[in-house]
Amino acid sequence: MCGIVGYIGKKNTKEILLSGLKELEYRGYDSAGIAVLSGDDFSSFKAVGKLINLEEKTKNFTTDSFAIGIGHTRWATHGKPTELNAHPHIGESSYVVHNGIIENYAQIKKELENDGIKFLSQTDTEVIIHLFEKKLKTTTNAFEAFKKTIEDLEGAYAILLVTKNEPKTIFFAKNGSPMLIGINEENEKYFASSDSPLIGQCNKVNYFDDGDYGYVTEDTINVYNSAHKLKKLNLLELSTNKLLAQKDGFRFFMEKEIYEQSSVISDTLMGRLSDDEILFDELDKSFFDDINEIKLCACGTSYHSALTASYMFERYSKIRCSVEVASEFRYRKPLMDKDTLFIVISQSGETADTLETLKMAKEAGLKTLVVCNVDNSSMVRLADACILTRAGIEKGVASTKAFATQVVVFWMLNLYIAKQKKTLSSQEISKQISLLREVPSSVKVKDTTHEKIKRLSKRYLYGHGFFFIGRDVFYPLALEGALKLKEISYLHAEGYPSGEMKHGPIALADPELFTIALLPKNMLYEKAKSNIEELSARDSTICAISATEFDKADDHIMISSYDNYMLEFFEMMVVLQLLSLEISVRLGNDVDMPRNLAKSVTVE
Ligand code: M6R
Repeated sequence: MCGIVGYIGKKNTKEILLSGLKELEYRGYDSAGIAVLSGDDFSSFKAVGKLINLEEKTKNFTTDSFAIGIGHTRWATHGKPTELNAHPHIGESSYVVHNGIIENYAQIKKELENDGIKFLSQTDTEVIIHLFEKKLKTTTNAFEAFKKTIEDLEGAYAILLVTKNEPKTIFFAKNGSPMLIGINEENEKYFASSDSPLIGQCNKVNYFDDGDYGYVTEDTINVYNSAHKLKKLNLLELSTNKLLAQKDGFRFFMEKEIYEQSSVISDTLMGRLSDDEILFDELDKSFFDDINEIKLCACGTSYHSALTASYMFERYSKIRCSVEVASEFRYRKPLMDKDTLFIVISQSGETADTLETLKMAKEAGLKTLVVCNVDNSSMVRLADACILTRAGIEKGVASTKAFATQVVVFWMLNLYIAKQKKTLSSQEISKQISLLREVPSSVKVKDTTHEKIKRLSKRYLYGHGFFFIGRDVFYPLALEGALKLKEISYLHAEGYPSGEMKHGPIALADPELFTIALLPKNMLYEKAKSNIEELSARDSTICAISATEFDKADDHIMISSYDNYMLEFFEMMVVLQLLSLEISVRLGNDVDMPRNLAKSVTVE
């Protein structure tokens, strides 16, 4: 995920910006840059790849008197990870860095291009600087121009902007993406997108609220709220624990990643929804012409999102669909027809088995698409088309937000195809788009639910195994729940279709067999209920996850009541993630780095 730093003070601005960016490295990035303004001198540097490349480029540059500076690490979303797309973005005499996504950038860009402005990058961010400079020509001062610029932006942003017109000022705005300012006794001012760059530099910080904007000089910090009222700073003591700060105060990266699903899903959706259609700028309109079949290929968690997607492709897009585990597909000499679209799914884009299947499909002349979280990864470079999931870096080995965003992408993709192929009515498409907008709130962790799961977890530590059961898309979700538990608790767990238990596994049922039963109100409720009753009658210990009370269960984790099964799916997903997390914590395991596992499996 992108990171931002800014500095006003007399120390070595370059060094401060670079060391601030270093503190943000853990968030993941693919390029970085800084801009420093000292008097009339503007210097800017950008580099693709690791910070060491930026350090190399700036090695002969120093600032030893008062200067202001802004810096950025970029995780590509709009446009490839190239130097031109890296921040800061430049206008005639100003620079900007930005986190988030400007939803209406295409429209603003068109208007600016009509005015004759030439764009250098493919990013949404570049519109900010040109819009600002356009406003500068018709306003009395830089702050007015900045304020008017912000008013025109839709979407999520944390922005820092510097301009030669006001060489001692940093302009800032925050909406939806985090940003804070830190101060110290030496009268320095630091900006950052999270605590960690400020630890050791500042003792007091102010976290900006959504809608806040303003400017900062050596002596002033002026913050306005969205109603344009001057605000008082709410200065808080800054923690001194860096690791805790990187985890945003959570105990584990996995926990942080579970909690941030709501905001990353908003990023996944951003700019891709209109009232009656899904917009994928990255896909050619004719991409799905002549496609009669879809084959999905992936490993692990990504395989589970592929399985979930397969239900949607047949149900919504009405395209025949099959799913393959990549390591199996590689060696079974599969038949591949030219009218099949081959889709690989991968968080990292580097998983060796999945990558090999993509090569096989390309060699066989199939059209290929990758759903991936990492731009410029091997799969992204190889596939004919790519949809980025925009989950930001995932540090916990047990994948959480990557899965959530993959499923969201597939839901969108199905509505995109359904519109083209007219396999769903326009009313149904609009209705489902409204439901997609509800996903971010369905995955928000409720304190009461997390507390309940913490308490319940102590009853599920021993026994001879777990069955996670579900029907329809809740079956792949059950597989995913079982995989999460296996990975971080080291307990034996299986995912199973609810209706299949009676064909064998029910023989295992006794009080020491734990059944985690997914019981959605909106998908085959009665059928799933009788399957659970069969297990309950054989004395398996049952934990039901449902919006309705179920008297045959020993334990019950309540979810909200929805009228749609996909929203139940997403809330249950969070429950399952938290359940494995809390069981793992009780067993004293390393949640983020479980034994024997690696985050990216680049070997066979
Ligand atoms: O990067 P990928 O999505 O291709 O990775 C595939 C699997 O290795 C990965 O999902 C793995 O199963 C995770 N540890 C699951 O939590």
